[in-house]
Amino acid sequence: MMEKIRRLIDEMKATGKYHEPRLKSRAFARLHKKNLMLFRFDRSQEPWRIIGVIGFWETSDPSIIEIGTFYVSPEFWRNGIGTELFSTILQIAPRGAQLFTVMSDARAMRIAMEFGFMPVTLATPGFSLGVIRQWLGSDRPIPDSVYPYCSVDGCQNYGTPKSGERWMFVRNGYSLPEEERG
Ligand SMILES: CC(C)(COP(=O)(O)OP(=O)(O)OC[C@H]1O[C@@H](n2cnc3c(N)ncnc32)[C@H](O)[C@@H]1OP(=O)(O)O)[C@@H](O)C(=O)NCCC(=O)NCCS
Repeated sequence: MMEKIRRLIDEMKATGKYHEPRLKSRAFARLHKKNLMLFRFDRSQEPWRIIGVIGFWETSDPSIIEIGTFYVSPEFWRNGIGTELFSTILQIAPRGAQLFTVMSDARAMRIAMEFGFMPVTLATPGFSLGVIRQWLGSDRPIPDSVYPYCSVDGCQNYGTPKSGERWMFVRNGYSLPEEERG
């Protein structure tokens, strides 16, 4: 299994799109064992492979959980595997957890939005850089898209997610506790 995971991670590294410190085979194996990371297998060929992955990543607050490391091997794209992985991880998410994800791939964004995630900017009620920093962890760059790019309407129009731009999304129904509101 470790060899299969290493192969998957090599593919993911080659895209240059993932948070490198997370791409560790032992961490993947541990999360998979705890049912916090889902794999999709292709057993139709020898040697069999892991061709899809998605995982939960805990934050400093146990009630806030990131969905990340969402990947399907390119030769299997457009078969519904990504949608199925995303749907399954939502079904096993702890009840009441606040879910978020960070994405730069238009297809991944479409899938997240299909399941009720919405993009976050500093104009999203309740969000501040402090909240976003706390959710992402101190070693992660805050997505550029949450900053005020200052368009004609005084930093209110942040636009919509586009491929290549890094956006943060939260599940619909998001609400911060009163004391944390920015
Ligand atoms: C995002 C990603 C996980 C999606 O995986 P996927 O298995 O191709 O996802 P799906 O097949 O469920 O959906 C992809 C598209 O195929 C379409 N599709 C699904 N089943 C289909 C079928 N049987 N026939 C034709 N099209 C189909 C979907 O409607 C969707 O269309 P869209 O691109 O117009 O929105 C994958 O593209 C990927 O790994 N991307 C690169 C890595 C990346 O950037 N990951 C996210 C980090 S930001």
